[in-house]
Amino acid sequence: MKTPNVPPVPHPPQSSQPPQAPVAYWEYLQLPTLLDIQGGVSRDEKDLSQDEVVFIAVHQVYELWLKLMLRDLVSARDLFAAPHVPDDAMSGASRLLARIRTILELGADHFRLVESITPRDFLNFRDNLFPASGGQSVQFREIEILFGLEEHERIPYITQGTYQDVLHEADGSEGWAMARVKARIADTPTLKNAIDEWLHRTPINGSKPDDAGDREVVHAFVEEYLGRHETAVQEMVDRACAMVHGEDTRNALRRRYGAELEGAGEFLRALDVPEGAARERRQRIRAAALFIEIYRELPLLAWPREVVDGLVAVEQAYVVFRQRHARMVERIIGRRVGTGGSKGVDFLDEGARRYRIFKDLWAARTILVRRDLLPGPTDPDYYGFHFDEA
Ligand code: HEM
Repeated sequence: MKTPNVPPVPHPPQSSQPPQAPVAYWEYLQLPTLLDIQGGVSRDEKDLSQDEVVFIAVHQVYELWLKLMLRDLVSARDLFAAPHVPDDAMSGASRLLARIRTILELGADHFRLVESITPRDFLNFRDNLFPASGGQSVQFREIEILFGLEEHERIPYITQGTYQDVLHEADGSEGWAMARVKARIADTPTLKNAIDEWLHRTPINGSKPDDAGDREVVHAFVEEYLGRHETAVQEMVDRACAMVHGEDTRNALRRRYGAELEGAGEFLRALDVPEGAARERRQRIRAAALFIEIYRELPLLAWPREVVDGLVAVEQAYVVFRQRHARMVERIIGRRVGTGGSKGVDFLDEGARRYRIFKDLWAARTILVRRDLLPGPTDPDYYGFHFDEA
């Protein structure tokens, strides 16, 4: 399951180990090497403008952050890939997710430093890096793969499949970058698949997937919830219609809320998935995401809910990172074609809009209803204490 070229998270030295020789700060951090690698194409910093050195150093800092994210993502994935995820593992996973989110948030802010380079001055050295592009950031691709972005969901750079094409060496051979991507693709499950598996075995109203009658329990939960949701939406339609003038406007509102109702049914019944085992499985995953969200006060669900919220927060930070990158790019190069050959800002904006991993977790939020409309769980004892119906 482990990627061969991604080292496992190291443990702190054990006290039984022999004492190490004194090490200086610059040795420990290998500063002579670190401070000597901002030389760009000529490998000599003296040839570069101040702006280009900033540009290179900023990208290197990003790559280090991506490295940290990757390690934390692997650890989080491994926790959820286990057949049973105990509470302490969930608290550990929440911490990892919080750190990944912090990296993404800091990273989004870090684009301000790039914006200290003026558009005109950037053009002085932009040609030096052509055709290199952030699209060749293999770690960024690995993060997408590990999260669970699927190949068919990718937006083509120039033609379909180009994201891997641009990771080949100049002579067309598969070098360092492609080897990493291939290893990452082989390193399953993705975080999304591990989370799906974990959600799938979440007890719903005390019933587990292998229990007799589980299917009926899940369906009963879904249908009862949809009934409550309909009540909530109907209340909103009535209130909204009372506040506007004109039958056309009221009808438009009714259609809008009607579509929301229909969407809730399609989502929870998983009508977008082919009928059969796949649909049953997706129904259970979505019902579990909802169950965790609505009964989050129950002790057994408190940590799962933290995890689910942590995943949504990470994805939110990821989307904001993409959006912030696109705005920085627009500010510096306008809407021209990227050095990697993509449509530039349009391509980046499309990615920010379309690339979503934990779609079911987001969608569950669209169909939440007020607490007083919720059905109580049929077996509250199972989850730790009696549900206090409002
Ligand atoms: C002046 C600075 C920058 C400009 C003008 C710029 C421009 C672009 C453009 C146009 C693309 C689309 C691919 C292409 O056609 O090249 C891209 C992709 C990308 N850039 Fe930047 N970028 C800049 C700085 C950065 C920095 C500092 C990072 C650090 C994380 C970064 C990370 C990425 C990544 C990861 C992609 C791939 C995005 C994807 O495929 O979804 N870029 N960049």
